[in-house]
Amino acid sequence: MQRRATWATRWLLVSDRWWKDAVFYQVYVRSFADSNGDGVGDLPGIRSKLPYLQELGVDAIWLTPFYPSPGADHGYDVSDYVDVDPLFGTLADFDDLIKAAHEIGIRVIVDIVPNHTSAQHAWFTGDRSRYVTVPAGDGLPNNWPSNWGGPAWTLDEERGHWFLHLFAPEQPDLDWNQRQVRDDFDAILRFWLDRGVDGFRIDVAHGLVKKASLEDEPEPFPEARFSSDWRTAIDQPEVHEIYRDWHRLAAEYDGDRVLVGEVVFADQARVAPYLRPDELHLAFNFSLVFQPWDAERIRASIDESLAQLPIVTWVFENHDVTRIVTRFEGERQARAAALLLLALPGPVFVYQGQELGLEEVDLPDEVRQDPIFKRTNGERLGRDGCRVPIPWTRRLQPNAWLPQPPSWSDKSVEAQTGRDGSFLELYRRALELRPQGGFAWRESPPGTLAFDRDGLTCVVHFTDERLPLENVVLASDDENTAVWMRR
Ligand code: GLC
Ligand code: CA
Repeated sequence: MQRRATWATRWLLVSDRWWKDAVFYQVYVRSFADSNGDGVGDLPGIRSKLPYLQELGVDAIWLTPFYPSPGADHGYDVSDYVDVDPLFGTLADFDDLIKAAHEIGIRVIVDIVPNHTSAQHAWFTGDRSRYVTVPAGDGLPNNWPSNWGGPAWTLDEERGHWFLHLFAPEQPDLDWNQRQVRDDFDAILRFWLDRGVDGFRIDVAHGLVKKASLEDEPEPFPEARFSSDWRTAIDQPEVHEIYRDWHRLAAEYDGDRVLVGEVVFADQARVAPYLRPDELHLAFNFSLVFQPWDAERIRASIDESLAQLPIVTWVFENHDVTRIVTRFEGERQARAAALLLLALPGPVFVYQGQELGLEEVDLPDEVRQDPIFKRTNGERLGRDGCRVPIPWTRRLQPNAWLPQPPSWSDKSVEAQTGRDGSFLELYRRALELRPQGGFAWRESPPGTLAFDRDGLTCVVHFTDERLPLENVVLASDDENTAVWMRR
């Protein structure tokens, strides 16, 4: 009870904000909708699918980077922060998209990538004064590894220095101790806020400021590096100054713009400081991404998140992790997970295709493009399998930049629309009925989870045993693996 009271009090603080229980839909721009048939999604394509998103019932969309980029990390290597890559359209297309989305009540947040730029950015091809560099000396400056394998430093012999890159060498890290960098990004944020965006998703939000001493990381480094819990060089106290500034900057607009941080820790206690009242409004809670389909593990993760964070932003999928149909080993589990996710209290992010029950695609090596795959010589498969373009019609797209498996014809939006019991129809119905209000666990047998929201109870079975249930308003399948019941 103690825990619930604290949580309820914190909840009151944000109770009037549009994003407090919003459903955000993540659009991975190059794989969403292609308007000109070149095999790559684009901004006019997104605009053409707004009616689909409206019918689905989402409140907001997050657009992954569409800025000019050489594409070493598919847009997360930005060479110009205030323009649109011709591959995706023009600034006029962007303005049209925002306008059309706002007309039907869908908000739009955009991705901002402040930790690093592209190596093709004029700041890097120019004097490099904005970056973390160390004069060339005897060997590597320290033992810091890149998240994607190999050292986090590359030597530029001509310039006589090492430059830092937590990701690929094509993504050099900016030096956020510099006033200049902070001013540059203030201007970038204003540029997009002035164009009407409803907020930002901040890439690698916990990584911007590095430990000034550049001291070694304690070895050995973990194999799986999606989470940053092990890195001591980032998550520095000074990073919070940046978010206090950005909070003030966003508030200058209309108090309704939202800052969502990608703060990648499994330990939610380390995410909490980013959500102080004068910092970020939201931060992804990735703890569910690390859980298997197991009642006790998932309940513990939910409890931990609710206890640690003032507001929990629930995520099962995004463009960096294995799709849940594959992760949870089946469509039945993924459908149940959908009812679980959409019944939890707080904002939710749904990744495009999650509503179609798309699985991770086992792509042939020769079509894989993720820098993780390339940099590790195929040792790590990388993230292409969750980035295959959305199948809109039964007739698949012959030239999609990553090939759609033939079985996706039947999973296409066309095939699933209006089909009784389809994944898509389940999502539509769930978004319509999505419960609100308080949250309280109910006692339930081992291998199950049950909780109450206002007027509805959500029950999820993680095993094959089933209880008899009454007043079911929505079920994930005919076996009642997960249900919402009226109380
Ligand atoms: C974030 C993005 C990921 C990208 C990385 C580097 O984790 O989600 O896709 O590769 O940052 O920008
Ligand atoms: Ca296109």
